[in-house]
Amino acid sequence: MTARQLFVTTALPYANGNFHIGHIMEYIQADIWVRFQRMQGHQVYFVCADDAHGAPIMIAAQKAGITPQEFVANIAKGRKPYLDGFHIAFDNWHSTDGPENHELAQQIYLDLEAEGLIERRTIEQYFDPEKSMFLPDRFIQGECPKCGAADQYGDSCENCGAVYSPTDLKQPRSTLSGATPVLKSSEHFFFKLSHPKCVDYLKEWTQDGKLQSEVANKVKEWFTPNEQGLSGLSDWDISRDAPYFGIEIPNAPGKYFYVWLDAPVGYLAALKNYFVNGGPLARGEPRSFEDFMASPDVEQYHFIGKDITYFHTLFWPAMLHFSHRKTPNNIFVHGFITVSGEKMSKSRGTGIDPLKYLSIGMNPEWLRYYMAAKLNARVEDVDFNPDDFVARVNADLVGKYINIASRSAGFIGKLFEHRLGPISAEGQALIEQLQAKAASVSQGYEDREYARVMREVMLLADLVNGFVDQYKPWEAAKKPELRDQLWSTCSTCIECFRLLSLYLKPVLPQLVSAVEAFLGVAPLRFTDASAPLGAGREIGNYKHLMQRVDTAMMDQLFELEGSPSAAQATKAASNSSKPKAGKDTAEQTATTPNPSNPSNTSNPLAPGGEDIAHEISIDDFAKVDLRIALITACEAVEGSNKLLRLTLDVGEGNTRQVFSGIAKHYTPQELVGQLTVVVANLAPRTMKFGVSEGMVLAASHANEKEHPGVFVLKPWPGAKPGMRIH
Ligand code: 2FM
Ligand code: ZN
Repeated sequence: MTARQLFVTTALPYANGNFHIGHIMEYIQADIWVRFQRMQGHQVYFVCADDAHGAPIMIAAQKAGITPQEFVANIAKGRKPYLDGFHIAFDNWHSTDGPENHELAQQIYLDLEAEGLIERRTIEQYFDPEKSMFLPDRFIQGECPKCGAADQYGDSCENCGAVYSPTDLKQPRSTLSGATPVLKSSEHFFFKLSHPKCVDYLKEWTQDGKLQSEVANKVKEWFTPNEQGLSGLSDWDISRDAPYFGIEIPNAPGKYFYVWLDAPVGYLAALKNYFVNGGPLARGEPRSFEDFMASPDVEQYHFIGKDITYFHTLFWPAMLHFSHRKTPNNIFVHGFITVSGEKMSKSRGTGIDPLKYLSIGMNPEWLRYYMAAKLNARVEDVDFNPDDFVARVNADLVGKYINIASRSAGFIGKLFEHRLGPISAEGQALIEQLQAKAASVSQGYEDREYARVMREVMLLADLVNGFVDQYKPWEAAKKPELRDQLWSTCSTCIECFRLLSLYLKPVLPQLVSAVEAFLGVAPLRFTDASAPLGAGREIGNYKHLMQRVDTAMMDQLFELEGSPSAAQATKAASNSSKPKAGKDTAEQTATTPNPSNPSNTSNPLAPGGEDIAHEISIDDFAKVDLRIALITACEAVEGSNKLLRLTLDVGEGNTRQVFSGIAKHYTPQELVGQLTVVVANLAPRTMKFGVSEGMVLAASHANEKEHPGVFVLKPWPGAKPGMRIH
């Protein structure tokens, strides 16, 4: 097999914030693919960079009182702990503000201009008269032209979802200065994507079968002619006026490339920079970046999220093709990450902070394995579910795979002087079964069907564990007459463990490197599947290779900064004379005591088993905003026998999700369609299963054991969702 030469990238993240878990998922997906290719003996160049330009970064830098260059450099400094932490091995991390990108972007532009694909047009745009700058859509706010909601951005309404132009907003104002923007005309540069030669080329490029089918279908929609019979592809506005942090357009003073023009060029710039910094030229190899990119053998792949498909399947190949450059061999599109089914949102606290994950001692390879177990080659969202995470890592990764070594290595060390022995016919048959999967496993990695690979590997691990259960080394070890059988069983296990480690190596590089050291073998490659360790091979001392996830870590991971920790909550409950709710149900349903807490001794003489609370003023009471809510939907919460997930209409035009610890007292069917009372201004709380946006009121006795029952409040007929309770 001749070695392939692969140029692989992930999307370039904006240099205006730290990585979130979505970035890490993409990097893990690409890193697994790259490691697999290297294990096949292929040569891979894997690069990424900060996407440095654009108005938001310029403005953020202004606010911080530093130059955009300093701002971007500060962000870049923070990248390493994430990449090292999750074992993501880019060859180079560069910046779109590097000199290579300036030069390449300008040259590509000039080549496109020479092709007749650049056009100048005068357009009208909102301009901030105080800041003397044209306003990007996201820096204009006003009333939604559709629903009238206040403080909506210039491109779309978060309240009703309408999409419009900034000029449609009512009462527009600049978020930079507060001034009312004025319309001003300016000359802009357009890339003529609607030119027939572009459209024809892109139709072929996007529909020739290389793209994922969902992606190709989506792109097809974009070609659909509009009512005027024109191609669906519109020309692309590629210029922005000064002040702008970007790359200057040649021969056009005061005009800059729109950030999305130079961003993908940054892929090439990062590679070019690598050639002289650490890559081939630095190693003394004669090959230049230009030679490399001119070689028809080089394959180019970009891993991206589904939101930036348009840029990568239309603009980018057109830019490359019409500037006479190599076009990507493929664009690998993935979905978003959700957390317990919720769209990830940092402000609502449902995101997973990758550095927090590492700082609380969670193993990065648990996450790599979990992501691999969920990822396939389709554009599907990937859900991070805490219970599923714990189950897959503990039951599968540790319980099935690591367990094979734990169950056998000790005997080889103690009883057979660390040497592997002859293998029985049954053992050999098992090993061959595992070896036979090498082709399917490697095809799965090649196709990015990691979830299928993980399933196959775990099924193989099941077979091996079944074999161990059959020959019971722990019993055989007590019977001298079964010594040969014990040796064969354990040697078979070690060989199977080697094969499974080989199959998991792209996902678990650090763990498998420890396995290689323990087995005393060179770095495993896929061709090693057919080269067993063999009898007589000496192996090292076995040390436990991977811990199980402690579920307390998951609680810690999902705790919001500033919210009381589990430990604090428990302390508060035991210090208080009043009973407090348990953690699962805490604060989401009033009055639910925790019967397992010994401090929950109720006062039998007091009403409802507890003393009336301290007196408060009417102002104190007014702080609590109680509203009538209609329960529009209700469902059990997977993984909790206490909680129900309620969807509430509180008259706000959208619904809220509230978790309530009443699953033992009500069925979802009983609740749907009923009115109840909710604390509407309680701070949202992130729970293991999602965010709870309020608290449903319910009554119960402090001594629930003797006075069982929880009773959800229900208003008299006539009350309507949203009415306030005074
Ligand atoms: O959407 C984003 O985060 C962009 N910064 C991605 C750019 S990818 C490439 F084109 F640079
Ligand atoms: Zn609206």
